[in-house]
Amino acid sequence: MKRHPSLQPLSRDHHEALLQVQMLRSAAEGSPDDRRVARVSFRDLWDGWFRDHLDLEERRLPPLIPAAGDVDRLRKEHDDIRFLAEEFVRGAAEAEPAGALMLRLAERLHDHIRWEERQLFPAIEQATGEEKLRSLGVETKIAEAGRPRSCRPKP
Ligand SMILES: [Fe+2]
Ligand SMILES: [Fe+2]
Repeated sequence: MKRHPSLQPLSRDHHEALLQVQMLRSAAEGSPDDRRVARVSFRDLWDGWFRDHLDLEERRLPPLIPAAGDVDRLRKEHDDIRFLAEEFVRGAAEAEPAGALMLRLAERLHDHIRWEERQLFPAIEQATGEEKLRSLGVETKIAEAGRPRSCRPKP
């Protein structure tokens, strides 16, 4: 099923984040310099807009999520990602990032995004009326306008 337009900006965020997941995975197995470069790149994403992505989802999605357990899961997984991401990006510039931490962060991000795309978003699309989805779409579109993209969606 095609993603509802109101959720498409969040899905494009996911696409960008998954590119970082790939980078984290390969750098984790690479040299100390590879890992430092990956940290700078991830920090741009994290400080630049991915923290906002999590905040926006927590602010706007819970009223649209049909199963209470999924709201808890969303918050819990976001907290895990925040904890790991902060630990990773706040390392001193000269310090060598730990490959194990990078892999853990990559797995959490990957699994969370896959859950949202395969289960949570379809559940929201099924349960939510057009009017509420449209109102969500106003906010997701505004958020997206301020985000860097490796490839821009067509207007
Ligand atoms: Fe999320
Ligand atoms: Fe998300």
